[in-house]
Amino acid sequence: MVQVDAPDTRPITEEGDFLQIRAVDHIHIYVGNAKQAMYYWWKGFGFKPVAYSGLETGNRDFASYVLESGKTRIIVSAPYGPSSPLASHHMVHGDGVKVIALEVGDAEQAFEVTTSRGAEAAWAPREEEDDFGVLRTSAIHTYGEVLHVFVDRSDYSGPFGPTYQPLDFEAESVGIASIDHIVGNVQLGKMDYWVNFYHQVMGFRQLLHFDDKDISTEYSALMSKVMENGNGRIKFPINEPAEGKRKSQIEEYLDFYMTPGAQHIAITTGDILDTVQKLQANGIEFLRVPDEYYEVLPDRVGEIQESIDAINELGILVDRDDEGYLLQIFSKPIQDRPTSFIEIIQRRGSRGFGKGNFQALFESLELEQQRRGNL
Ligand code: FE2
Repeated sequence: MVQVDAPDTRPITEEGDFLQIRAVDHIHIYVGNAKQAMYYWWKGFGFKPVAYSGLETGNRDFASYVLESGKTRIIVSAPYGPSSPLASHHMVHGDGVKVIALEVGDAEQAFEVTTSRGAEAAWAPREEEDDFGVLRTSAIHTYGEVLHVFVDRSDYSGPFGPTYQPLDFEAESVGIASIDHIVGNVQLGKMDYWVNFYHQVMGFRQLLHFDDKDISTEYSALMSKVMENGNGRIKFPINEPAEGKRKSQIEEYLDFYMTPGAQHIAITTGDILDTVQKLQANGIEFLRVPDEYYEVLPDRVGEIQESIDAINELGILVDRDDEGYLLQIFSKPIQDRPTSFIEIIQRRGSRGFGKGNFQALFESLELEQQRRGNL
């Protein structure tokens, strides 16, 4: 494993972007019932099911659906029996993100460079072949039980990977475009370890830092550092709980997920009003801040293109910084355990993460925790 030294804060030069990650290739979620999870992402979030793997395609271990919206690709998979590794994962964690896959030009190089810099190997470079060509992957471990799989699709033209066959489903898009950031929750005292991991092993640099003065309420506090890769396309904030009077939202996550894991996936839209309206019509539930938030909003963020009334009605949050503003909203947990959730975000110049919304947001999160008896 990587050594836990003081974080290396040296800026990364062009040369230092040794991983050359092109994009998030996919997010693989292990679930209890892939057929029903597919329906949720399809009818709830407007993703189009594009590929399937299962008994009919020669996969006797698990059933799996690939869904896409814009550049966002989500896979949901469930085991066929108790001997599958997916079964033990699901028994401990419930539904949760197992893989954050990264598209690279050379999966072997990505594996060599990250493991030589201290990453723990999950699988060595391998080639899988079918009628669509050769798919090259390799994988390393990150926080909790999450893997980073490096994917090279340059010689593969299939809908996803070997054993996956195309699906022809119609979907009504809600406008979800691409992944903005994926947040990891780690244990108290472990944030800097994982910040250092992303820096040393993967060549990321620290973009921002929030401490408990930025993010604290009477009960809850957290610390967060945002790590960004060399070309700025990949952002992985890392959260750890901070000492508070009562149980923080990060501790609640860790208690129910049983290990560190992916807290939320933020996905972009070009029209958040339209997207959130459609999501709500589809039955997706979001956190709501108190109405007073909207009374002071015009003073706090100044002029914005969107109607404050429409924003208030949908429960969208707004934050402004030197570069512009952003609009965001957070779903309730997307499974029964209070673990992972989804953020919908539209950026109008701001590259921040909504620091001005933390207070209001955390208060409404605590209200939810209280309802669950977890505060
Ligand atoms: Fe976020």
